[in-house]
Amino acid sequence: MAETRYEDCIYKNPNAEVELRVRDLLSRMTLKEKIGQITQIERRVTSPSVITNYCVGSVLSGGGSPPCEGAESSHWADMIDGFQKAALETRLRIPIIFGIDAVHGNNNVVGATIFPHNIGLGATRDADLVRRIGAATAIEVRASGAHWAFAPCVAIARDPRWGRTYESYGDTETVCKMTSLVSGLQGDPPEGHPNGYPFVAERKKVAACAKHYVGDGGTEKGKNEGNTIVTHEELETIHLAPYLNCLAQGVSTVMASYSSWNGDKMHTHHFLLTQVLKNKLGFKGILVSDWEALHRITDPPGLNYRECVKDSVNAGIDMVMVPFEFERFISDLTSLIESGEIPMTRIDDAVERILRVKFIAGLFEHPFSDRSLLDKVGCKEHRELGREAVRKSLVLLRNGKDPEKRFLPLSRNAEKVLVVGTHADNLGYQCGGWTISWFGHSGRITTGTTILDAIKKSVGSSTEVVYEEHPSEETLSGHNNFTYAIVAIGEEPYAETFGDSSELEIHFNGSKTLKSVAEKIPTLGILVTGRPVALEPTTVEKVEALVAAWLPGTEGDGIADVVFGDYDFEGKLPMSWFRTVDQLPMNTDQADPLFPHGFGLNCKKD
Ligand code: BGC
Ligand code: BGC
Repeated sequence: MAETRYEDCIYKNPNAEVELRVRDLLSRMTLKEKIGQITQIERRVTSPSVITNYCVGSVLSGGGSPPCEGAESSHWADMIDGFQKAALETRLRIPIIFGIDAVHGNNNVVGATIFPHNIGLGATRDADLVRRIGAATAIEVRASGAHWAFAPCVAIARDPRWGRTYESYGDTETVCKMTSLVSGLQGDPPEGHPNGYPFVAERKKVAACAKHYVGDGGTEKGKNEGNTIVTHEELETIHLAPYLNCLAQGVSTVMASYSSWNGDKMHTHHFLLTQVLKNKLGFKGILVSDWEALHRITDPPGLNYRECVKDSVNAGIDMVMVPFEFERFISDLTSLIESGEIPMTRIDDAVERILRVKFIAGLFEHPFSDRSLLDKVGCKEHRELGREAVRKSLVLLRNGKDPEKRFLPLSRNAEKVLVVGTHADNLGYQCGGWTISWFGHSGRITTGTTILDAIKKSVGSSTEVVYEEHPSEETLSGHNNFTYAIVAIGEEPYAETFGDSSELEIHFNGSKTLKSVAEKIPTLGILVTGRPVALEPTTVEKVEALVAAWLPGTEGDGIADVVFGDYDFEGKLPMSWFRTVDQLPMNTDQADPLFPHGFGLNCKKD
């Protein structure tokens, strides 16, 4: 029989129905090609020949894995387009889908707009704002050549000791609302779009990923990748709820959680992955594993890897974020299929889902990056949006030792003001983890405005701004006549398990600095943290005003906007602020918090 010409295949026809294209393409694929689609590898082990030899279906960059030092969007686009070119040289010319952790803007990329981390966005309760952030992020991701953002994280952080608390928008109701990020990233599906069926609108949009399914934020003592011990009903009402919102918006992908539910690992949980997510809730997109998660099914990790591949794929994982040892993965998966331990129907289902998303995302028609979008990266409009998000996310915790005498807004025309603290002039610190590198970093890691920069821009020309990261005794001695001080302290950046903390203390003796300044000068304290942290009541009493700024990102101007009174405070706590660590876990419902869930003062109105 003569080979059908590639151009004549149904799957190549952009006007053919997606499901027909999926079936047509699947019917042409060899086992090796199917296995390739299921395999997602890290860019560090990727080369054109690896893509063509193994028919690799997807590539990702892990946190802080740029194509080169200081890489900007165009460098990323060059790398990804290079991989794509190789994929299009394979027999069936199936494009790769490239995924990246764009979790607060396209945060791995130098020059991108970095938005506040989710906890700050949760404090805004502004779903439309988050949708617009999703749309801006999608454009910046596409400009870098990637097609898939591993966001939103829809975790419900139940305990601030969890190192990923800042990736959570807060309580269930808030997280459900903030799933509007999905529509921002992917576009709005038309009316009548079937629930659970993936959707990506056009070339300026990317596939989203609801993660980490399910219960990642509910682990015991906030232990990352730990065990969530809750009843079936609690799992549904607390942790599963936001997935319904995501599915209604046509979220294209879902990532499984490293964590366990009542002792059973999510990655092998057939009931939750297949029966609930796929069968009951109707999810038709890609269920991707987390990074090296198949190794972590066993303790110690990597024990009997073949068994882990079998159990997770049979439980419903469609694509495996391997991400490094792909040869071993491919050989184990091949042997499991050949022996019948993984049925062919399961493999076909997984591949269909992967192809479906690729067709819907327009990858066959537009496999390469759109360089016309490069101008949009870090553009004024996106930075303005970041600034808006920052000012709406700030939570005013205290304003005036004497409640009758409000301290904020601050005067722009004070003669002399003091700015101090580890976080006052540190762009990297205010961006937090998942910024340029996986952990985040100290200093000018990208383009942006620090709190100090913003203050300097905001005060009048006659105001002298004195900045000392650690104020000397001389500075605090009293003859300086500072009108007021602004002290910005907080957490050093961290990511994932490295952020787990049982004491929740802020580093560098932050509270000591705050206290010593506040004893001498009327002080505004700004907390730059990914979560509620331990605050001594005596410190709180000494400051005139206290603001929770979360991890605001690159647009420090948003802080000055509110502190100097151009805008009022709007943010409300998305989780309770505990008094002492022994009260934990504390989320929305327990008694006697330092500041309750939903708390946040206004400056002008109340
Ligand atoms: C992270 C990756 C990161 C890697 C570093 C993983 O757990 O998710 O994004 O690059 O660790 O080894
Ligand atoms: C994290 C995910 C992330 C992935 C890829 C994992 O360690 O848990 O949230 O998307 O790495 O970097």
